[in-house]
Amino acid sequence: MRERLLATEKVKSIDWCEGRLRLLDQRRLPMQEIWQTCDTAADVASAIREMVVRGAPAIGICAAYGLAMGLRTRLAEGGDWRLALEEDFRLLAESRPTAANLFWALRQMRERLERLKPGEDPLVALEAQAASIHASDREANLTMAQFGLELIRKHRGSPQNLLTHCNTGALASGGFGTALGVIRAAHLGGLVECVYVGETRPWLQGSRLTAWELQGEGVPVCVHADSAAAHLLKTRAISWIIVGADRIAANGDVANKIGTYSLAVLAMHHGVRFMVVASTSAIDLTLESGDDIPLEERAGTELLEVNGQRCAADVETFNPVFDITPADLIDVIVTEKGVVERPSTAGIEALLSHRRLH
Ligand code: MRU
Repeated sequence: MRERLLATEKVKSIDWCEGRLRLLDQRRLPMQEIWQTCDTAADVASAIREMVVRGAPAIGICAAYGLAMGLRTRLAEGGDWRLALEEDFRLLAESRPTAANLFWALRQMRERLERLKPGEDPLVALEAQAASIHASDREANLTMAQFGLELIRKHRGSPQNLLTHCNTGALASGGFGTALGVIRAAHLGGLVECVYVGETRPWLQGSRLTAWELQGEGVPVCVHADSAAAHLLKTRAISWIIVGADRIAANGDVANKIGTYSLAVLAMHHGVRFMVVASTSAIDLTLESGDDIPLEERAGTELLEVNGQRCAADVETFNPVFDITPADLIDVIVTEKGVVERPSTAGIEALLSHRRLH
């Protein structure tokens, strides 16, 4: 399956080339394919904040490259580069609040700096560390795709309808995607009849990005309004809802795109299995439960405007862009280290301590 997945690789959204970061602008897809170049840590922080690049793993990878570019600038400025680099750490860490991968990647970069040997070139070290974070995310995607495929096949070995939310594909990661990587593998394994994708208001990551990625690979895909989900689960036989995660608390509660929680409640009501796919870099053991996860709220204009045109009255808005799905609504969390069925604090602990390898 690994080789077959590798052969399908088409979409790439992050390109590190000669010390510069090129990003496929995800705000314009699928109508326009425009690449934006970042030369500084501030450029990357702004690209993350403005959603040029999005998706938890992709944000982490870009922050790592951003920090390497920050170091290059600080070295050229002369003076105390370690002190000056703290400003880049801060800027990147403040770009978006929810995805654990962002803080995880910055931590990896900091730890690499702490391990510098006397005489070692810090820029070479940080660039290599960022590239390694990128490469390991791709590897994790491949492993998770296989674990997820096995779970789907174990349940039923024939083509079935799957449902996903937001975009968790090549655009959101360093490789094939998390939830969408599993769906890709399921398609290659002959297990997909149709993939139902919620629009994912207000940024439309589902209809603009996921549908585009799947269509490009010839995977049967059908877009629905987010509010059609209950009716869809009642009327079309869906066997799995498969989503990604921005952060997973120690007890297995999951922060993901707004609407994920509603889907999990609906899945429970309709007896549909609910799978979360995320690498262990999304797990935050410092937070006991989902209640502690900081949830981003974005500007109300995202709700009141369409394509920059006002389409609603000038009223107060509530625009949280993530929600928390409690662990007890989740059947299984798939990571590159193995799977946790009926997630709990003990299950997550066992996964990370390698006591329960897949
Ligand atoms: O606001 P976004 O588009 O960055 O939100 C993305 C999601 O919620 C994804 O489901 C999550 O980051 C996992 S991506 C592999």
